[in-house]
This record gives sequence, structure tokens and C-alpha cells, in this order.
Amino acid sequence: SVVLKSSSNQCKMPMIAFGTSADSNKSSEETTKSAVLEAIKLGYRHFDTASYYASEKALGEAIAQALEIGLIGSRDELFITSKLWLTDNFPHLVLPSLQKSLQTLKLDYLDLYLIHWPISVKPGNWELPYVDESITTFDLEGVWTRMEESQRLGLTKSIGVSNFTCKKLENLLSFATIPPSVNQVEVNPGWHQRKLREYCEAKDIVITAYSPLGGKGASWGTNEILDSHVLKEIAGARGKTVAQVCLRWLYEQGVTTAVKSYNKERMKQNLEIFDWSLTIDDHEKINEIKQIRVVKGPVVSTDNIWDGED
Ligand code: A2P
Repeated sequence: SVVLKSSSNQCKMPMIAFGTSADSNKSSEETTKSAVLEAIKLGYRHFDTASYYASEKALGEAIAQALEIGLIGSRDELFITSKLWLTDNFPHLVLPSLQKSLQTLKLDYLDLYLIHWPISVKPGNWELPYVDESITTFDLEGVWTRMEESQRLGLTKSIGVSNFTCKKLENLLSFATIPPSVNQVEVNPGWHQRKLREYCEAKDIVITAYSPLGGKGASWGTNEILDSHVLKEIAGARGKTVAQVCLRWLYEQGVTTAVKSYNKERMKQNLEIFDWSLTIDDHEKINEIKQIRVVKGPVVSTDNIWDGED
């Protein structure tokens, strides 16, 4: 696990999170609930959700049941991340949205609360991608002040952002009294994000990689990293799967990960990355892989999201 320095009580975030994004699994509540229970049995302790994923309810039920049947002794053995959706990305909606997430999850506090995207969308819109007319001014300073308030109130142990560029982090750090603990962004062997990772490391911001396997099965597409010949070769030489090579590659660089699979065998496999390593030669080969950003963003015009940092 990794210590979040700006959190209350120096809270520790487990390196691997179990993802529950609705986009890739389109699962029923029952499926999500049993997958989470299985994940707890297998040893996952960090769960990643968002108000947008519609998985908070099932995750909450699974946690309650895990406590009831004694899979875990207490709530604080788990690390729970949720996120503020674009239609709630306004100063006055931060606390109500967080409280709603907590209610849905049946929890008293989150371990980490993230601004999901650096975009505000007029309330009432859920259809993706958002067109320009739905997008309105994002008051980062106002929203962040309320994020800080939620941490001070104990509603969450730490706060952070997702899909933020160096430029946006620089702006945020210029006024933040509690700096972001985490920036959750796409990172995988097909999208290295080297510059952003170096910047975050210098500022003590932990990176969490989403789409660590290149987004297979996601509605926005994939960079087909699981089919990469280079990765297949490395996987063969190490006696591991390509997915494990991706996750190990992230881990060796200090990147935490949210990985999703509701398949028991793959869930298990995705945790088995701690007792072996990649060689320098493997890293050099991965450095040469062609770079493609998979997740462009939930809006039609993405220029204001990535600030040309490609
Ligand atoms: P499945 O649920 O059938 O296992 P990403 O995290 O990059 O967005 O990728 C998620 C996708 O990767 C899911 O569709 C998931 O499918 C698949 N996946 C997760 N773990 C593995 C694995 N170990 N091997 C192959 N595919 C995996």
C-alpha cells in the first residue's frame, strides 16, 4: 500500500483496487454484489466506484454482508473510493453528492473522494457524450474548497482528482490548502503518461491507473494492448499472462491500479503480481510500444480536457 500524505491520519491506499465501473461490465446489482464478495474473499481491500457507475448500492450491500458473515472484522479494513459526477461538479453540490454516495453505500465515510472529470455539465444530463451546449464553467477553486471541507468534516479521509493534466494540477496546487492525494488517469503499456507521472511524483500526488489493460470491452474502445506481440513475448518468458505483465509494469513504477474483472480466475490472477518481476530488458521493450490514448473523455470536444499534453 501507499501512504496518502495529505489525508487525515496518513491513510494507506492498497496498490490494487477492484474496479466496479458499469461501462465494462453492464452488470446487474446481484452480479456486482457477488463479485465484490468474491473479491473480498480473494484479498481485495480497495474498491473503486463512482456515483456515475451505478455500482455504489451493490458495493454497499456487499460490504454490509462481508461484515455480517465475518469476511472482514470492521469497515476500516477496506479502502473505498467514489467520485463526484460532472452534473454535480459545482461548489454547492459537492457535499450533497458525497452524502448521497455515502447513503447509497451505507457508509459513514469514504477513504477517497475524487472529482471525476475537470468539466461541469448542466444538471439533468446523463446521456454521453455531452455536447458543447450542456457544458458550463467549471469552478475548480469553489469545488475544491468544498472537497477540502468534506475531508475536514470526516466524510472522507482523503480527496483527489481524476483526468487532470499537469496544467490543471498546477492551477489546483496554487490555491489548495489540502493538496490532492491522488490523480486517477489512464495508464497502461499503450499509454505511459510519463510527463504527468513525473509531475505527480514531484508533488506527492499518487497516480491511480484506470484502464490498466487498455480498456478492453469499454464503450470508447481499446488500444488492444492485451493483443500486443511485445507483451505476449514478455508474458511467455515470465510464465505470466499479458494482463499480469501490464499490472506488474504499473506496480514497478509505483503506480496504483484500478482493475476490473468479475471473472473469478481473472480476479485472482490480477492480484498475483507481487512475487516476481520484469527485467530491465522487458521495461525497455515496453518503452517502445506505440502510444494511443484510449479514453478521450465524456464530451464531444475534448480540447479543454487534455490541454494538448499528449
Ligand atoms: P472480464 O471481466 O471478462 O475479465 P480495463 O481495466 O483496462 O478497462 O480492462 C477491463 C477489461 O479487461 C474487462 O473487460 C475484463 O474482462 C478484462 N480483464 C480483466 N482482467 C483480465 C485478465 N487478467 N485477463 C484478460 N482480461 C482481463
